[in-house]
Amino acid sequence: GKVVLAFSGGLDTSVCIPLLREHYGFDEVVTVAVDVGQPEEEIARATEKGRLLADNHYTIDAKERFVAECLFPSIKANGSYEGYPMGTALARPLIAEEIVKIAEAEGASKIAHGCTGKGNDQLRFDFIFRSGGYDIIAPMREMNLTREWEICYAQEHNVPVSVAKDKPYSVDENCWSRSIEGGKLEDPAFHPPEDIYAWTVSPKDAPDAMEEIRIEFEQGVPVALNGKRMAGLDLIRELNRIAGRNGVGRNDMVEDRILGLKAREIYEHPAATVLLAAHKDLEHLVLTRSELQFKQIVDDKWSELAYMGLVHEPLFYALNAFIDKTQERVTGTVDVGLYKGSVRVLGRSSDLAIYSDDLVSFDSTTIDQNHAVGFSNYFGIQARLLKNLKK
Ligand code: ARG
Ligand code: SIN
Repeated sequence: GKVVLAFSGGLDTSVCIPLLREHYGFDEVVTVAVDVGQPEEEIARATEKGRLLADNHYTIDAKERFVAECLFPSIKANGSYEGYPMGTALARPLIAEEIVKIAEAEGASKIAHGCTGKGNDQLRFDFIFRSGGYDIIAPMREMNLTREWEICYAQEHNVPVSVAKDKPYSVDENCWSRSIEGGKLEDPAFHPPEDIYAWTVSPKDAPDAMEEIRIEFEQGVPVALNGKRMAGLDLIRELNRIAGRNGVGRNDMVEDRILGLKAREIYEHPAATVLLAAHKDLEHLVLTRSELQFKQIVDDKWSELAYMGLVHEPLFYALNAFIDKTQERVTGTVDVGLYKGSVRVLGRSSDLAIYSDDLVSFDSTTIDQNHAVGFSNYFGIQARLLKNLKK
């Protein structure tokens, strides 16, 4: 039989190739690496290893699709989970869909992945694979494997692995976010060494001067950086460099996984930190109070479904429709200052601002302040009546 394997070139998925042949008895293993903007070396490594180890290998460029269909909607929804900008969660359904396409083209009836039975990714992948009608093979989960066992097995089977024994971290990357977990980091009290970070400098080593940048949004998505119009992917990559060199976008936290397990997770997401802060700030200039209050609830629900990878849940489409409607007016400019790990909005402007400096200014008499007295007479009237009753 033939099996299609979701392939990253990392330890778990590399070990899957001989396991699928020896333990599961497949005579053809097809590997698929999906490029969602992880560093070029990672994609090159996956392509090379897939060609070396599998019977057939595909590398699919899904970068543009990832930005347009996953990252832009997430910016509009202020997509975050327990306080960090989601990254892996956004990419998994898209990666899975690209793999389903290859499975169809190859005529395979089974799809394999290297996720463990402890995390979120298994659920996000399985949802899409099962929706496509495929049987799932997950060797790590089914054989209850440990990373230590995998390293030995890889060595015995001449599978090249780049995991150093002293730094056995599990890293997942796309152009929006880099996550680092596992190994010594599993002790939540352990202070992470500086060398786990790849996109950000330590805030203490960042420049002593604030770097100011300008971001322009149209209908909720970023379209220009420092006055230059750019495609989404280029803008995100450029902003990752700028914010990263200012130590912006690090996160070290204990996260609640879907299964209920708490896990210590470390993230780098410089551009995401800046774009989400700027986007939310702009929303406060152009959306009404009612819209903002209700959208917070919608954003939270959107993020919960996105975290679980339930992107075909009908509610998810409905929430996106609401969000898109609000974003029609989220057009404007945000100036941001980056300084030693912190992000601060310095100023914002929009032709669609629901803001009148003439009305609000303490120096203007356009509003007759006496009009507020009538409003104030009724303000809190029920609580005041009750208080008097008690007396
Ligand atoms: N905890 C994060 C999430 O659920 C990161 C998962 C990282 N995945 C990985 N295979 N290393 O989105
Ligand atoms: C895994 O368990 O395979 C990685 C972590 C996760 O999916 O949350």
